[in-house]
Amino acid sequence: MSDKKQQVSRRQFLNYTLTGVGGFMAAGMLAPMLRMAVDPVLKESGQGDMANVGLSVDDITNEPQKIDWKIDQVDGWYESQVNRSAWVFKDENGDIQAFSPICKHLGCVVSWGGSDEYPDQFFCPCHDGRYYKDGTNVPGTPPLQPLDVYESEVRDGILFLGDAVPRKGA
Ligand code: FES
Repeated sequence: MSDKKQQVSRRQFLNYTLTGVGGFMAAGMLAPMLRMAVDPVLKESGQGDMANVGLSVDDITNEPQKIDWKIDQVDGWYESQVNRSAWVFKDENGDIQAFSPICKHLGCVVSWGGSDEYPDQFFCPCHDGRYYKDGTNVPGTPPLQPLDVYESEVRDGILFLGDAVPRKGA
């Protein structure tokens, strides 16, 4: 009696087989489609890469100079070019400094020597924000944090910059 219950009919066998084969084929077709749809999202964007900003180290002086460059940015399926800027100079130790020009108050653009009254400071015209040459904010002016600093390195005498990052402890 129990032997009879365990028998699989021809119809059931065909059902199981077709379901298994069909499922296997469907998975084989869907996997590449799913991967194609999701892959750009999982890929790391270009952020973190160092970009050649087209400036020779020999041309960097103690006087901050503004440089502009473009980077390719990939955001999911969308690729675009993004403009970037930095104030670059050599400090008193000869080390290269590269500051973001974005004011830490409300995001206006700061300029070196932009105020006749404070020619040796970075100046933000929006609310008279000021920063010392080392990028730290002048107390009593609207910005409450120092300017962000670009990651930098020199390759074959050419300056490469990465992302602008807030200063530690700021
Ligand atoms: S945005 Fe720069 S001081 Fe306000």
